[in-house]
Amino acid sequence: MTVSSIASSAKSSERSPALIGTVRAPGDKSISHRALIFGALAEGVTTITGLLEGADILSTADAMRSFGANIKKNDDSWTVIGCGEAGFISPKAAVDCGNAGTGVRLIMGAAAGFTVEATFTGDASLSSRPMGRVLDPLSDMGITYDAQDGGRLPVTLRSSGRLSPIDYTPPHASAQVKSAILLAGLGTEGVTTITEPTLSRDHTENMLKAFGAQVTVKTTGQGQKVSVEGPVTLKAVNVTVPGDPSSAAFPIVAALITPGSDVKIENVMMNPTRVGLFETLTEMGAYLRSDNFRTSGGEIIADIEVKHSKLRGVTVPPERAPSMIDEYPILAVAAAYASGTTMMRGIGEMRVKESDRISATVALLQANGVQTAEFEDGFSVKGGAVAGGGTVVTHHDHRIAMSALVLGLNADAPVTIDDGTMIATSFPAFFDLMKNIGAVMKTDIK
Ligand code: S3P
Repeated sequence: MTVSSIASSAKSSERSPALIGTVRAPGDKSISHRALIFGALAEGVTTITGLLEGADILSTADAMRSFGANIKKNDDSWTVIGCGEAGFISPKAAVDCGNAGTGVRLIMGAAAGFTVEATFTGDASLSSRPMGRVLDPLSDMGITYDAQDGGRLPVTLRSSGRLSPIDYTPPHASAQVKSAILLAGLGTEGVTTITEPTLSRDHTENMLKAFGAQVTVKTTGQGQKVSVEGPVTLKAVNVTVPGDPSSAAFPIVAALITPGSDVKIENVMMNPTRVGLFETLTEMGAYLRSDNFRTSGGEIIADIEVKHSKLRGVTVPPERAPSMIDEYPILAVAAAYASGTTMMRGIGEMRVKESDRISATVALLQANGVQTAEFEDGFSVKGGAVAGGGTVVTHHDHRIAMSALVLGLNADAPVTIDDGTMIATSFPAFFDLMKNIGAVMKTDIK
């Protein structure tokens, strides 16, 4: 891309002084989607505090309203009056899930348990992502659907509300697939089971239990078997959303690569199914100290202090992928400043996220003078000084955009992104938070 073709949504970052300060991680995106969806299913009033007010979550709130829930934003909480015993109704218009893969896949599962017909749409990125991974097992349970080629949106889903339970083993560990099937299982007579070879994030299991469902988890020779017994109507509870470790990852890596930095991130969820990045950075030699461990909303949270560190390349074990699947782009930025090579394999799932994140991350690094090699199931990064000076194509992907801006914080020349507007899907306060700790970022490029 040439400079003259950069739109006004372009942003840039440049070599910054030491990052210093204390910030609070924004609400967790996965838990925020679930709090709204579970609240919409439940009988009674769910009050949510700490909800992430990102565009993805607002799309899920609108979607839940169109299925019949009453959702209201208060001064410092959200209230959801759920559909309860009456169940979901068919939305009057297409349900636009925006950029949110978690939103659309979980809502399809939740809707499947009722007598509904619903058409789901999304933005260009979401419309390119495969929905068959959820629609196929839901079809085994009894729904029918129309989709575009490759099981893509727009999708029209029809359910009679009388589903049969299944015992399903997906080809890859995926919390979205697991959650969609468990949510459909709530409206299904009998026991619905999903077997995961490697455990994916377990927020659905934890929250379903809190909302009164019978969920069992068994470790077997084939992996983790998670079952729900239906039919069951969830009962409203109050939810406190903990801080998002996937968003905390950006100021953490920013501090690690910027000389002299010392930053504290408060309120970070430390659920073991989400902390793979922190383990990997620690193996790379990062100064990361977590303290003030406490429980909030059924999850362990802590405050993390991070200081600039001399990092070294590592090989990330493929079995760690489910606990850090969204964090490889920002890990690649840490790897670019480390000594030696970081090898990341067994992460083919990255190709079907908001963008093909393997090729987008490789292109991000190469545009800024970092040596990388791309494989079908991953990539490697050879660390050292980062030239910068490149313009990164973000493909409507918030994590590619934020990773590129963090890369620029210690690069020889500024790093520019073509579009930063979609950062608001997951981290609306990103620029304010980064500028508050001293990061030099330009948000008004003409
Ligand atoms: C999520 C699960 C992950 C992750 C996504 C959020 C969730 O996707 O990439 O950002 O909230 O369940 P997969 O389950 O497809 O791996």
